[in-house]
Amino acid sequence: MNLQGKEIVIGITGGIAAYKSAEIVSRLRRLGANVHVIMTRNATEFITPLTFQTLSANQVVTDTFQAPEYWQVEHVALAKLADLFLVAPATANILAKMACGIADDMLSTTLLATKAPIFAAPAMNTGMWTAEATQQNVAILKARGVHMIGPDSGRLACGDDGAGRMSEPADIVKEIVLFFDKAEDMKGMKVLVTAGATRERLDPVRFMTNDSSGKMGIAIAEAALRRGAEVTLVHGAVTKAIPGGIRTVPVESTQDLYDAMIREAPEQDVVIQAAAPADYRFRDRQNSKMKKTAEKEITLVLTENPDVAAAVGERKKPGQTLVGFAAETDDLEANAEKKLKKKHLDLIVANDVTKPGAGFNTETNIATLIWENGREEQPLQQKSELAEKILDKVMELRG
Ligand code: PMT
Repeated sequence: MNLQGKEIVIGITGGIAAYKSAEIVSRLRRLGANVHVIMTRNATEFITPLTFQTLSANQVVTDTFQAPEYWQVEHVALAKLADLFLVAPATANILAKMACGIADDMLSTTLLATKAPIFAAPAMNTGMWTAEATQQNVAILKARGVHMIGPDSGRLACGDDGAGRMSEPADIVKEIVLFFDKAEDMKGMKVLVTAGATRERLDPVRFMTNDSSGKMGIAIAEAALRRGAEVTLVHGAVTKAIPGGIRTVPVESTQDLYDAMIREAPEQDVVIQAAAPADYRFRDRQNSKMKKTAEKEITLVLTENPDVAAAVGERKKPGQTLVGFAAETDDLEANAEKKLKKKHLDLIVANDVTKPGAGFNTETNIATLIWENGREEQPLQQKSELAEKILDKVMELRG
């Protein structure tokens, strides 16, 4: 475990758990990190800035308005400097501000400005944690890629028993170390991900498609990028912005996807196919807009599209890891296992798309990871979290 050279900014908000953050600072320092602390005004009521200044050996930033000129430079400086941003303890209030993009003090301003990965360790009363507003804010933040650590359950300072206790400093530091370890584990690897829906044109203004938003595939591409891989995303129609740093290959139809994949896949170490390609296309595609006829019924004939994943599987290179998805409405595992074999995949991510919170156009998913000698249930979670689990499994299978 070594955090040498890492710049970590810790935001401390006003909760009784603020005293535990002193231990986080000193553990991170012992691992070699350079730690910078920003405290909210309320946090300074629980523990003094001098404690953190002594432990971090850096000036503690406490408020935007104390010395405007110095801090104004500083908030941009720390936002830019951070390799990782941790908010611990994170009160319901700071989570709400982060979710809404409110920047009314030094900490929230810096958080809004930073491009660094953000971790938050919530700490609050159980009622506040379980409140719909807080849970919605947490869901928004997770969907944006904020890593939530905890909270743990147990006896709280207010006397209640339940969820809301800040995770232990040792566990928080462990997550941070794991993140930096992971950040390196795909370095030098080429990863190709597919995402989104294909469109099969009937005529210049009409097409057949499906509900895929691309969120699952984009989450995987983002996670692979964070872990150091060189990432290519071959994508159909998507509703989410694709982050910078990812090479993109836009396609429209399944045939376009096939052509792109036959060209791109041989170069890749890992290929993960989360796109939803149409199995059929219109046999007779019209070059002009189809006119309404006098007929009450018309028949449009569909013809089979190539199975892209199977074609990539047939051309599998030594050392390549191939991952597919299975979108099922019944017999989830049996159907997924058939696809695993038929498409020569190393791993298949089976999602029952009828379950609430799973499948198409949701922020979350529920899946079973299936490989030759095993399976693993993945309960309801953000697509960004599932993406990490899929990559963890890929790395494990590659040995
Ligand atoms: O994009 P989102 O809104 O986030 O939704 C995510 C998702 C539901 C699309 C994703 O989780 C998912 O399940 N993707 C696979 C959808 C699909 O086409 O499943 P399938 O069981 O029909 O296909 C199995 C595998 O073969 C898939 O890897 C698919 O990409 C591939 N395939 C399918 C048909 C085809 N003609 N060629 C293919 O390569």
